[in-house]
Amino acid sequence: MESLRFYIQTFGCQMNDHDSEVLARLLEEDGHLEVADPAEADVILLNTCAIREKAEQKVYSELGRYRPLKERRPDLVLGLGGCVAQGEGRNVLRRAPYVDLVFGTQTVHEVPALIREVRSRRRRVVSTRMTHDPGPMTGFYSRARGRSPRAYVTVMQGCDNYCAYCVVPYVRGRERSRPAAEIVAEVERLVADGVVEVTLLGQNVNSYGRRPPGDVDFPALLRRVAEVDGLGRIRFTTSHPKDLSGALVRAFAEIPAVMPHLHLPIQSGSDRILGAMGRRYTVERYLGLVHALRSARPGIALTSDVIVGFPGETDADFEATLDVLDTVGYDGLFSFKFSPRPGTAAAGLPDPVPEPVKEERLARLQARQQGHTLARNRALEGRVRPVLVEGPSRAGGGQVAGRTPENKIVNFQGDPAWVGREVNVRIVAAAVNSLRGEAVDAGEAAA
Ligand code: 5AD
Ligand code: SF4
Repeated sequence: MESLRFYIQTFGCQMNDHDSEVLARLLEEDGHLEVADPAEADVILLNTCAIREKAEQKVYSELGRYRPLKERRPDLVLGLGGCVAQGEGRNVLRRAPYVDLVFGTQTVHEVPALIREVRSRRRRVVSTRMTHDPGPMTGFYSRARGRSPRAYVTVMQGCDNYCAYCVVPYVRGRERSRPAAEIVAEVERLVADGVVEVTLLGQNVNSYGRRPPGDVDFPALLRRVAEVDGLGRIRFTTSHPKDLSGALVRAFAEIPAVMPHLHLPIQSGSDRILGAMGRRYTVERYLGLVHALRSARPGIALTSDVIVGFPGETDADFEATLDVLDTVGYDGLFSFKFSPRPGTAAAGLPDPVPEPVKEERLARLQARQQGHTLARNRALEGRVRPVLVEGPSRAGGGQVAGRTPENKIVNFQGDPAWVGREVNVRIVAAAVNSLRGEAVDAGEAAA
């Protein structure tokens, strides 16, 4: 069997990063070799994101950059996968006729065979089937870890929530969970390979085990994963506030390996807009969760997502969102201008917010959040935190970088041999994007 050199370019979220790792494993198992330079590749695959219009435009412009390469080397297989490919299907071939292969979010496992088909039959292939009654999600192992002591493990895929703005249910399909035994086995394998921290991934991890019905819900899954010998840290993302149960809050209190950070997207601080978004919680309920989480795990870091300029959002609605930022005091915030996505309920809503108003709201929101991020980071100054060392710091100067339990990046003088260890670090200076520290001791046994 011929061995090809492949190159994968990934756009978008952690879920996509992880899918690319699964794809890389499948291709490696098929005898192919990953290369770091697309100019050296026989197969170039783009794993794409469709969450906002801008993300989708970027995909097509990147695709255009590969066009000359393809024209010079007609043998090159150029493929498009992920959420844009899922949404567009055959349309991709019209918009970019030089593409050879289109695969979806549920046909990743077919890619090695599809590549063979493209090469042997010299024809273009599209496979974007999506099943609407999925069984359990199996075989979703990613590749053995790289050099990082951190790894992602998918626990569920898809989403059944249909928030009015969101394309995810259309491009990732119905919710489906992986069997708990598979997840635990993957974590064990990663830990044996030197991983210290896992992040459990899903579009809505709190509904883990609902479809297909399983005997383990998400808090119980956390307990199983926490029992894996040698695993130091567990994180998970993303959580929908409406599904955050008391049992999950208790997990923060009772399972020390569960790290004190939660990403809990609020989207808007106005009940009226939350209703229009179909989020199915109120600001009051959300703030109740924040209170419960902080009681369960004092010092827990909270981050969130906000959309500004959802159709019909008034100045008063927007001010309510600013109020929530002040009330919660988030450690970090991802904020976006509303972008209508084809096929979603919000795409057809009246009363669009003009672009300049969206811009202005976004700028005000981000300025307000900066103050909170800085205040939360400064609160760590003078404290000693265990930092899991990930590698050399981008700041250079013989520094290493790692994360505190709260998921804050710390740069400090250290030894690259510390990678994979938890080192106690005193935080000496805080900025918006990172902290500077000094090692207090070099930690215990190397991982
Ligand atoms: N427009 C703007 N932001 C969006 N998000 C999801 N869909 C859209 C959209 N159509 C944001 C939400 C979500 C994050 C991943 O992306 O805040 O939590
Ligand atoms: Fe999109 Fe809502 Fe599902 Fe999150 S919960 S993926 S925002 S539909």
